[in-house]
Amino acid sequence: MKGLLLAGGNGTRLRPVTMSISKHLLPVYDKPLIYYPLSLLMLAGIREIMVISSPRDLPALRRLLGDGTQWGIRFAYGEQPSPDGLAQAFLIAEDFIGADGCALALGDNILFGHGLSELVETAAERRAGATVFAYQVPDPERFGVVGFDDAGRPVSIEEKPARPASSWAVTGFYFYDNDVVRIARSVRPSARGELEITDVNRAYMARGALQVERLGRGFAWFDAGTHDSLLDAADYVRLVETHQRLKIASPEEIAFRRGYLDREALSRLTAERYAHTAYGDYLDRLAADVPTLAEATRHQSFCD
Ligand code: DAU
Repeated sequence: MKGLLLAGGNGTRLRPVTMSISKHLLPVYDKPLIYYPLSLLMLAGIREIMVISSPRDLPALRRLLGDGTQWGIRFAYGEQPSPDGLAQAFLIAEDFIGADGCALALGDNILFGHGLSELVETAAERRAGATVFAYQVPDPERFGVVGFDDAGRPVSIEEKPARPASSWAVTGFYFYDNDVVRIARSVRPSARGELEITDVNRAYMARGALQVERLGRGFAWFDAGTHDSLLDAADYVRLVETHQRLKIASPEEIAFRRGYLDREALSRLTAERYAHTAYGDYLDRLAADVPTLAEATRHQSFCD
């Protein structure tokens, strides 16, 4: 499965902070915002990712992320000349997606919770249809909203409805089979002039192929597109990281635990980039203490 990381738009709600910098590069406590959705794609086991952004912001994103080899993954870059809607990502990335399924992560979404890795791995392994994740919010009219029948099946999905059918907002992480490209081609601009991801999801729902995973207690979701939500997200990350002494959304850690980087590669990367930083100290501790997935599996088969 391929991954798309959408990091364009003008960030107008965050001006003046975003007058000369992409909101996706703003800090959420100790990392750039974009690390959080990127980590979710990595946790799903996706290793080929296209980062899509505006002509203004692509160079800075490229400087931050490089070609991905430092984390054992591969980045491609796609340009979106103007923010004409989330579903346009599939048209920009059509060649990159090829014959594969495709996950889309919105560059300003942060999702965290126990069991999330298994949840997104399962979504990435599903061969047909689409999977989205819904989260209960007090202000559903700001989001895509999914309505359910009495049996809990999804029956409606609307973008920023004046009268929401439920309080379940659709979060910015979507998993699709290869049909998504064909469906995106048939989407027409909405009243606000955008190719809406909600129209893509509605097409899957119409054919009974939309799986909606409801995220309950124990998950935290932030759409960090406003000053307040950005600060809330940073407070949350700081609190969790300080209490658990584990980092949320470190690409180096995920790459190491999944076996994309061995101990030596992690130590080298840490020395090159993060000498004398708290982030580097954390990665050094990790390299010293934690078995990678590959090592743990070898140990497990030895014990078997
Ligand atoms: O956050 C979840 C919500 O995201 C969903 O509930 C909605 O259904 C979905 O439409 C979207 O709504 P937003 O109004 O929050 O989307 P926004 O315009 O803020 O864009 C989300 C991210 O995608 C943001 O990082 C900017 C980027 N973007 C947006 C557009 C419209 C692009 O890269 N290109 C675009 O054309």
